[in-house]
Amino acid sequence: MPHRSTLIGAGTYLPERVVGNDELATRVETSDEWIRERTGIRQRHLAGPHETAAFMATAAARGALDDAGVGAGEVDAILVATSTPDQAFPATAVRVQAALGLRTGFAFDLAAACSGFIYALSVADALIRSGQARTVLVIGSEVYSRILDWSDRGTCVLFGDGAGAVLLRAGPEAGPGVLSTHLHSDGSGGDLLFVDGAVGRRELSGHLRMNGREIFRHAVAKLASAVDEALAANGLGQADIDWLVPHQANRRIIDAMGRKLGLPPERVVITVDRHANTSAASIPLAFAEAVRDGRIRRGDLVLMEALGGGLTWGSALIRM
Ligand code: ACO
Repeated sequence: MPHRSTLIGAGTYLPERVVGNDELATRVETSDEWIRERTGIRQRHLAGPHETAAFMATAAARGALDDAGVGAGEVDAILVATSTPDQAFPATAVRVQAALGLRTGFAFDLAAACSGFIYALSVADALIRSGQARTVLVIGSEVYSRILDWSDRGTCVLFGDGAGAVLLRAGPEAGPGVLSTHLHSDGSGGDLLFVDGAVGRRELSGHLRMNGREIFRHAVAKLASAVDEALAANGLGQADIDWLVPHQANRRIIDAMGRKLGLPPERVVITVDRHANTSAASIPLAFAEAVRDGRIRRGDLVLMEALGGGLTWGSALIRM
């Protein structure tokens, strides 16, 4: 019998160090006013040396397990969405597996930049639906501070570090859970947002490079179509959505999506003001916050959407 993936727990980790816009203005020529007006960002958390993707992912995973009241031994699979892994290999996910004391099941990483969480959720849902796994940790964990060019004011003000996790478990097909996921990529946009170095190249490490204007243009159009696709696939309309939990890149992109869906601002979960853009971690961080503070409740319809380097983009509809 096919199963539906139910979200039974959520957890987060944010680095201890909080850096406000004013502090960045001492490093590059920028201002709190410019950053807030163009992006909505007020501050970000930046990782210390010990706060790696695996370290933060493990903490977020523990939070999700505790939230669900499930022991680590029940986990069949761990998926970590990250573009900033601790090592080329082994995967960050197997480091998490070891840190959780697990020697069973399987674990792997998935790279889809800012869309990474939606991609990982989609793969986890497919594993559960096909019966290959029953209980799956889906984690987004990123340390973009390590790949930022701290002399480039056009990018270094936009990102932050952190991790978020959800625990999925197979439930009855007619019950709550992931209704559908929708993934897209178009590699012809690969040079709009990329890192100019990697372990497979001569330049071992690299920096994030971005054409912000072009990304902005693609984001609004592609996210709108991914959202329409998700609603149509489920025979639902905009009025059915209780919560939009978008990738947190930029307040202006988020507001444009909220308006397009006719959602009042209080139905859109926002963390970009405090976390900045944490790439694959941003959606689970925002989701966990809204579940924890009681905004998202059982029975609510939650729409997630993201666009990122690749270009990659996608959406997910979840009945809580
Ligand atoms: N402080 C002050 N001035 C700045 C800064 C800064 N931090 N950054 C850029 N500027 C300057 C530029 O140098 C430029 O000056 P000039 O006119 O003298 O050349 C001016 O501001 C305008 O620059 P633009 O890049 O055209 O500014 P824009 O209004 O497009 O805003 C931004 C830039 C915020 C990056 C915007 O393009 C954007 O939000 N793009 C979306 C990209 C995004 O969110 N990326 C995140 C990753 S992708 C994702 O997650 C979806």
